[in-house]
Parts: sequence; C-alpha cells; structure tokens
Amino acid sequence: MAQNDPLAPSGRFAVVQSGAAQTPPMGWNPWNAFHADVDEAKVRAVAKAMVDSGLAARGYRFVNIDDGWALRRLADGRLQIRSNTFPSSHVEGSATGSFKPFTDALHALGLKAGIYTDIGRNTCMQRWDAGVPNLPVGSVAERQVGSFGYAVTDMRTIFADWRFDYIKVDACGVADYTPADPPVTSGAYNAFPPLIVRGNIPASDPKAIEGLYAALGDAVRRWGGETATLSICAWGEALSVLWGPRRGNLYRTSPDIESNWKSMLANIDSVVDGALYAGPGHWNDPDMLEIGHGDFDAAHPTEARSHFTMWTIMAAPLLLGYDLRHPDPALHAIVSNPEVIAIDQDAAGNQGIGYRDGDAMVVVRTLAAAGTRAVAFLNRGAVPVEARVSWRQLGFAPGSHARVRDVWARRDDAAASDLIRVTLPAHGSALLRVTGTPADPGAVPLDAMPARIHVAVDGLSRANALPMGRFPARVGATPDGAPLIAGGQPVGGIGVFANSRLEVHADRAFSRLVATPRVLGGTGPVRFQVYADRRLVQEVSAAPGKAASIVADIRFASVVELVTRQPSNGGRPPMVAWSAARMVR
Ligand code: GLA
Repeated sequence: MAQNDPLAPSGRFAVVQSGAAQTPPMGWNPWNAFHADVDEAKVRAVAKAMVDSGLAARGYRFVNIDDGWALRRLADGRLQIRSNTFPSSHVEGSATGSFKPFTDALHALGLKAGIYTDIGRNTCMQRWDAGVPNLPVGSVAERQVGSFGYAVTDMRTIFADWRFDYIKVDACGVADYTPADPPVTSGAYNAFPPLIVRGNIPASDPKAIEGLYAALGDAVRRWGGETATLSICAWGEALSVLWGPRRGNLYRTSPDIESNWKSMLANIDSVVDGALYAGPGHWNDPDMLEIGHGDFDAAHPTEARSHFTMWTIMAAPLLLGYDLRHPDPALHAIVSNPEVIAIDQDAAGNQGIGYRDGDAMVVVRTLAAAGTRAVAFLNRGAVPVEARVSWRQLGFAPGSHARVRDVWARRDDAAASDLIRVTLPAHGSALLRVTGTPADPGAVPLDAMPARIHVAVDGLSRANALPMGRFPARVGATPDGAPLIAGGQPVGGIGVFANSRLEVHADRAFSRLVATPRVLGGTGPVRFQVYADRRLVQEVSAAPGKAASIVADIRFASVVELVTRQPSNGGRPPMVAWSAARMVR
C-alpha cells in the first residue's frame, strides 16, 4: 500500500474528540433578537432571565455574544473591546479592556460564555450591515478584527485571559471581500482572495479553509482546555459539513435562517440527510432557533413546536434567539419541555434518518435506551396530511408490538404493531418515543449507529463534489437518495461512492460485521475491504449490479474501517452500498 494512500486504514475514529459538546450545545445567542444592536445590559438581563425562568436548569447553559463586540485591532495586534456597549470590560489603564468581569458574572450564574470572531480579517456585519451600530472603528488595519493571522493570540486572549467557553467563527472574511466587492473597491476594506466562492465548490478552496479552522481549533483547545467549544460558521460552503466533524464541535449546514416557514424547511433539508456527519462532539448545525419571531412567534405555536421538534430529532444545537427579558408562557412551554429536550440531548448522539412522502416527512432517531426510537412527523404543507412510519423504518421485528409515548402530550398511547399513522394539521408535527423489539436483537444495523460512523474519505474531489446540501454518504440510501434495495425490498446500510473509507467506532463491542455490499454503477469491479484496528480482515470484489457477501471477524476491534477501491480514471467513481450492514454483538 502506498504510503500516501488516502484509503489506507487510520486505526482512528478521527472526529473531534476533545470532550466538548458531548451533546448538542444549548443556550442563547443575541443575533436573531437584536442583530448588531447588542449590549451588555441586554445580554446580562437575558442571562438572568434564563436562570430565573428555569431554562438554565433545563440545560440552556451558553450565553453567547455574536458580531458587534470588537471596537478595533490595536497596532500591537491585540483586540480592543467596545466598552461603551460592554461597560464592565473597561479596565483602568488597559488599552484593550477585559471580558473577564462579564464571563465571571455569567459563570457565577452557573452559565457558560460564548463569543464570536471571523476566520478572515473582517466579519460578516462589516460586509453586509453597513451603517448598523457597533461596527469596528479606525483605519482599514484597525478595523481588521477577524482572527486571520491572529488565531493563536486571539484564542489565548479569549480563552485564557477572558475565560470564554465557546467561540463561533464566521467566514465572511474569506468569502465576501474579493477585489470586486464594493466595500473593497471603495477602499473601506482590504481585499481577501476568496477561499469560499458561495455556491461554487470547485472555485472554493476547501483544503485551505479547513486548514485555517484546524489551526484555530488547536488554539481553542490549547487555551480553552478540553471542553472549549468551536462553532464553525461557513454555512455549509466549501464542503465544510464534510470536514467539519474533524475540526469543529458544530458546523453550519446552510445560509442564515430567517423567521419564515420556507427558510426553516430549507434549513431542515440542508441537514436531514447528514446523519453520518454528526455525533457526540461534532454536530450538524442548521442554525439558531427562530422561535419567538415571525412565523414562529407566540401567535404561531404550531409552527414553533414543529421548528423545535425538527431541531431535536436532528440532534441540532438548541440556541434560542428571542428576547428572554419578555418571556411568553406558550413559547416557554415549548422550549422547556423536558421530554423533548431529552431527545435532542440523548447520549447516543444519533441524528435522525429522514424519509419524505410528498409534504409528509418522518425522521427516525435511534436513542440510547434499548429498543427505543424517537420519531418526528412533519407536515411541510398548508393542508392536513397523514404521515406514517413502518416497523422496517424503526428496525423492529415484523408483527411485534411497541410501546408508544406522545412526547408533546406527555401521554402513553395504545401499543402499536407494524405501522404508526398520524394526521397532521397544516405545518403540524408530532413527536413520539417508541420502544419495541429490534428485528435482530443480536446485532446493530449501521443504520442505527450513525453517530459511531465517520466518513473519512468519500471518494469525491472538489471538482466532482456533489452540490451543497447533498451528502456523499448516506444511511439507507444512495448518495442520489434512492433507497438501498435488494430483492425488491429496502435493506438499509450505507450508500457511498467507491474509493471511500468509513471509520466505525466499534469500541470492542462487536464480534462480526455482516453485509452484502453492492456496486450500483460503473463498468469495472469494486473491491470491498474490512479492517479491524488497521488489520485487513476481509476483502471481496463485486461487479457492477452484483452483490458480494461479507462476514468479517472484528472481535476486540476499537475501530473498524470499511474501504472501497476501484482504479480511478479521475472522474466521479461509481456508487456502492454497504447493504444490510450490521454489527453482530
Ligand atoms: C453571519 C452568520 C450569522 C451572524 C452574522 C453576524 O451571517 O451566519 O449567524 O453571526 O454573520 O454578522
């Protein structure tokens, strides 16, 4: 095997494993409520409300500040805080000021503190919100408050000196300051040759931007310790969702959410097929909650509940964005529901697997408790629909009975068998907790353990990458979205491209891997290899349209790797499937 062979087994489960964000972060961020008009009084009042209302006790711990806190970068490279809006940062004799009093106050409330920067030289608001309050001031150089070139020193200041626990790192600085952009042509900002060209993966430079986030992430952990949290905000551009699991604790999958139904649906769609890219310590981020605003305000409890239902089933971060100083009992009841929050925070960390039938959507999430699934149903449309989930989708034995709990109603329903149907009003949703008998009690299908799978290599290059929002490796489906079928029946498994390598965190819990891999296109055969802690334990070859059979001995393996190989002609490799793959105990 060539030494630089990207398909060579690593023996590692190479997602971020610092200890941060073992469940999706929960908290509050001012952006959706106040945009740039943020100040310390508001943030501290919200923090107090978070504690007094009981939200903190339900798990909302992070109070994050977003864009708008930096006044300037001083000639010596240090950042100066805007002390007129954050008065506690004023320190006699200090040119920069300090956020330590502010984070001390949050920590004293039992909360954690988050802050914001940009991976480039300038932030998003500088580019997109000309004229808003709280823009940085001074010369072109002084207004370069982003962390490009300052990753280590900024993270030292932010984590070691100011004691933040969390940082969101935006990416406008490497996307929106091209030589042709108006604020650059006017001389207000220096040009930054774009590493992200929005909507254009081949013209972007995913490797370079991943490198910047990797270096910044190292500095976050060096100065912030093992639980310091890094939120990557590159909106799913430049393949950031694909490399995010190795670099950040959460990574945006879409453009900014807006407070309307259509935008929320788009953000669901940006993430719902991405279960293989999320797990403890590394979460897909469809953006902060818009509950409390627009289509999700107190007058729209159905929509607000649907928004919350979908974020919890997708194991999304739960960052509230409304002004908690003016609480609303109906909204509070939604976002504080302990059984719903428990689904989002489930220890197994599996993101739900989505299915669509017209406007009806169902998402099935395997929970940590034995035989237990959370099931979310969503009506995307404006007329009532019936939605259903089958025992096959739940992985339950045909004919077996399951216990059903309606999570929002906090009510145990009658036991069900083979199929559950619900009728949903316009924009309505339902959330169930279902406990049944797994079809194969001695094994775990890979479908039911996406959090323990990392797509280390997906077989695609940036030139032939799938468009943004599409995932090159999927649970139960091909990368095109067709269900994995054998003998006319859906069989589950992982669909991916050839020349891929998947790392499975087996953690010594399994004895065999059983699968019937298939080649779904192309002309030549594909080799399927199974490695257990870097040792090749089985290898089979299959021709296009054909299946092979694998029973691999993986006893005592910590990391099992599933590799597919076909000599490359430089184009997009054929799709393959690890059909019916399961780990036998
Ligand atoms: C970008 C981010 C938002 C917010 C703003 C701040 O648009 O995606 O979440 O942080 O910048 O300027």
